[in-house]
Amino acid sequence: MVSRKEWNALADDFEREVCDITRETGSREIDRILRKLKPSPERSVLVDLGCGIGTFVERYGARFRHTYAVEHAARILARARKRIGRREDITFMTSNIPPAVARIGRKADLTVCMNVITMPENRIRAQMWRGIAGVTRKKGHALIVVPSIESDRMVERVAYGTSLADAKKDAPDGLVDRGGSRQKHFARDELRDVLALHGFAVKRLLRVPYPWQKEGLRKPRNAGTRMPWDWLVLAERV
Ligand SMILES: C[S@@+](CC[C@H](N)C(=O)[O-])C[C@H]1O[C@@H](n2cnc3c(N)ncnc32)[C@H](O)[C@@H]1O
Repeated sequence: MVSRKEWNALADDFEREVCDITRETGSREIDRILRKLKPSPERSVLVDLGCGIGTFVERYGARFRHTYAVEHAARILARARKRIGRREDITFMTSNIPPAVARIGRKADLTVCMNVITMPENRIRAQMWRGIAGVTRKKGHALIVVPSIESDRMVERVAYGTSLADAKKDAPDGLVDRGGSRQKHFARDELRDVLALHGFAVKRLLRVPYPWQKEGLRKPRNAGTRMPWDWLVLAERV
């Protein structure tokens, strides 16, 4: 697992080192989802769990009455504050997700959690899912991005010629080595199941492609139009 200390060490190079879906490839889909959700600037509450340098909040926060931006790495949150800290409608919280959720309470109309739930330990991931459920009000929504195991297997096949059977053998539990640390990757059905377990119904589940370079690779010749992707999920708290 990437520790809080390691996240802090990435603060200055965040844009280069971290895949920020709002800034990069997901922006069109996210725009579309936000237009449909139509949050109210008078009433709606946004909670961004693991907000990084605050790209989502900067782009969409003004559509909500109030925003809670939660991030455990103080140096990363300091960068978010520098960008958007003058706004009075944002509460910044330097905190691990579970205690922040306990302090905020169940009041989010939209809970965002993008590329955060990648920890290898099932127990810690369960805390994150419970956190999302604990902060999202009934009929509210969660917008979640997680790595895709199907994408990882496609990359293995296309870039390294690994057979699907061997790729599956390599990471049967979805734990994939990324720069020396294991990161959880989710299968489409697994994601539906874990959301259902925590009281969410999936409304949209789609691929957000990202450049091959983010895999540390040049686009392979045989890739055609294929690109690696993350799962982007919009789910309603039922
Ligand atoms: C890959 S970055 C994504 C940041 C942002 N959501 C985005 O999409 O650009 C993951 C962020 O989650 C934060 N994070 C990871 N685990 C966390 C936890 N348990 N509590 C709070 N923040 C966490 C990290 O410090 C990092 O800033």
